[in-house]
Formats: sequence, structure tokens, C-alpha cells
Amino acid sequence: MPSDLRAQAEKVIARCRYLAQFTEEPGQIKRTFLSPTMRICMQAVQGWMEAAGMAVRTDAAGNLHGRYAGTGGGCLMVGSHLDTVPDGGAFDGMLGVMLGLAMVEALEGEKLPFAIELVGFSEEEGVRFRFPFIGSRALVGRLDPGLLAHRDRDGISLTEALTGFGLDPLQIKDCALREEVACFLEFHIEQGILLESEDLSLGVVQAIAGQTRAEITFTGRASHAGTTPMRLRNDAVAGAAEWVGEVERLALDTPGLVATVGDLRTHPGAGNIVAGQLRASLDVRHADDSIRHRAVDTLLAQADSIAARRGLTVGTKISMDQPAVTMDPGMCALAMEAIRSTGVTPLSMVSGAGHDAMILAERVPTTMIFLRSPEGLSHHPEESVRPQDVENALAAGLAFLRHMNKEQSIQHA
Ligand code: GLV
Ligand code: MN
Ligand code: MN
Repeated sequence: MPSDLRAQAEKVIARCRYLAQFTEEPGQIKRTFLSPTMRICMQAVQGWMEAAGMAVRTDAAGNLHGRYAGTGGGCLMVGSHLDTVPDGGAFDGMLGVMLGLAMVEALEGEKLPFAIELVGFSEEEGVRFRFPFIGSRALVGRLDPGLLAHRDRDGISLTEALTGFGLDPLQIKDCALREEVACFLEFHIEQGILLESEDLSLGVVQAIAGQTRAEITFTGRASHAGTTPMRLRNDAVAGAAEWVGEVERLALDTPGLVATVGDLRTHPGAGNIVAGQLRASLDVRHADDSIRHRAVDTLLAQADSIAARRGLTVGTKISMDQPAVTMDPGMCALAMEAIRSTGVTPLSMVSGAGHDAMILAERVPTTMIFLRSPEGLSHHPEESVRPQDVENALAAGLAFLRHMNKEQSIQHA
């Protein structure tokens, strides 16, 4: 084991910041699924994986896999995502991939009885096709073929995007996890304020909140902003604005519920036109699926009644209904124990953010280790992580490997 974990931790941070230069928008970090900058990012990560003794391949969904062989059967999968939100930070996703890489590097060629497969997932954020977890869904065989026809904002279908990247959509079925993959571990920044407020460095995620994502379209009638009397308007924006207030109110009044309208697009979209149409995104999350479902029903009913009163119509498209997911108790106990063995006190937590781990958990025992997010900041360019916390996470990851080795727990469940 390398003596200088601090230097390794600083390398992890430097690598995340290095990858941040591969962006579609100058002046911000934005790297979406199957974009040219994603290709360059993957090439950089591939180079580091190969230098660490890993055999590298890209699967048909664009996920980057680096395999560090073991002396026996079974495989621990470690990973997170390489895509970002628009104007995002350098660590959401990339940190988990770089920590997995650092764990392998820290082995300095030593072989474990099991292989480690490091995955840089191609798509987690749902930015390009407004549908998240495309990379990890491919691994659990849950990528709906209907999605291949979805188009991005430039009118490019998922099939065309995959083909343009040199991938074969017909081979997506071959991405499915092999039997030898026994378990999955994801490191991630917390993206919230809990660890910071408890003055703790690391947490173990016991469960991940469920999410609904939907698109609500308010349709009225476009008209002249100067000549249409206020009382004779069917203004899609004014109706949607009233509804957005209701979204916030319901979430404030429901303990544990978060609800967000993060994207509004008007049509025709000019300052001197009363908008005829508005498309609003809706993201609703709660640890209890029945509370989440009830909230979504309430919000859709409110959209209908606001629209009816204003002479508008409403269309609803639910693009995702992802249930809350419990992490594997055995894997979580192992992660807690690994962290404690390094002298750090872990916090047991529930994640409000979605992660590739919630998809992998459908197929293999899964856990996540969270690192403190300074000021709870994430999905923001100033998102960061402290070197001491990365050092602690790396030490915990290495202890996790030793514990797995000792317990010979690497059998496929
Ligand atoms: C992923 O970042 C999410 O939106 O939860
Ligand atoms: Mn994110
Ligand atoms: Mn993430």
C-alpha cells in the first residue's frame, strides 16, 4: 500500500479538474452523453486506466470499462459517471471514477483474488435526451428500446447519436452485467449539507430517494403583447407560473418532499408575444414512493385546474418513475466497517440525489460512500471536495478491498 495517500488524493482532485477542461461550452463545465468532448474525456481516462494495468473497452452504450484482473473468479465493480449537468462542477461523477482508479493504482500491481472492474458511466444526468441513467440502465438490461427513437434538442435520435459515436445500438443488449460481477461500490460527493453540518468526512448511503421526472406542456393562444387585453389572454406562461408556485408550496408543506421545475421553454419565445405554449420540466423526489406518487398526482391535478380556469390545456408526459432503492445491508455494513477501521466515523445516510448505484442495485449488492460536499454545493461550478476527505475515502476504499478479501465475500449473490 502506498505510504503517501495524501499525494494520491491530490492526484484524484487534479485529475477531476483536468477532465473539467473537456467541455461543450467554453467558460463552463458541460459534457453530455456521446459528445465530442466526452470522447476526449474518455480517451484521457482510458490512458490512465491502461497505465494502471487495466484492460479497457467501451461498451455499446458508451460506458468505459477498465478491468484489473484478479487471481480468481468474481469481480467487484466500482464506478460513477463521466457526464455533467450544464454549468456543473468538476466532481459530480468524475470523483467516483478517479477514486476507483486511485484504488487500483494503490495496489501497485498486487493481484487480489477477485477482479476490479472500473466503469465510467456514459450518461447519468439525463441532460441530452432528458432521460437519466442511460449508461447504467444498459448494464442491468433495462434500457427500453423505445428510447432509441428519442431525439435531443438538435433533432438527433439516440440511435443516430450512438452510431455517430461508432457504437452499435443493436449490441446494447450485450452490455448486460456478466454473472461474475458480484457487487458494486460507488464513491460520490454528497451534494448536500448533512456531512458538513455533522462535521463528518464520509457517509455510507443506506437508501436513495425515488424520483419522478415529467414534462408538463401548457398550451394557450399566442397573441400580440401590445394589443391583446389582459382579460382576453390565454397566456401559457402566466398559467405555468401560477402552477410553479403550487409546486413549491406543496413541497414546502410535505416533510421530506423536494419538487423542482428547473427548465421552462416558451413558444414562440419572444418578448412581444403572449406565449402560446410553455413546456416545464418537473422533478419530484421522496424516500417514500407512495408520498411521491401522491404529490405528483396532486401537482398534475393542480395544473389541470389552473389551466381550465385560464382557458389553457395541459399535456403531461411522465418520462421516469424510478422507485426509491435500498442499498445492500451487507455491503453497507462492510463499507461502515472499512471506514471505521481507518479511524474515521461514518454517517449513515439517505441520498436525495439519484446515482448509477440505484440502477445497479437492482441486479447486484450495492453500496455508496459519500464524501463531504463543502457548503453542500453541487450542480454548480464551485462544487468542490477537500483533500483530507478524498484521502479518507481512498483509505476506506483500500480497507474495503482488504475486508472483501478477508471475508471472501466476493461470490455472486
Ligand atoms: C443526479 O445528479 C440527480 O439529478 O439526482
Ligand atoms: Mn449530478
Ligand atoms: Mn452524480
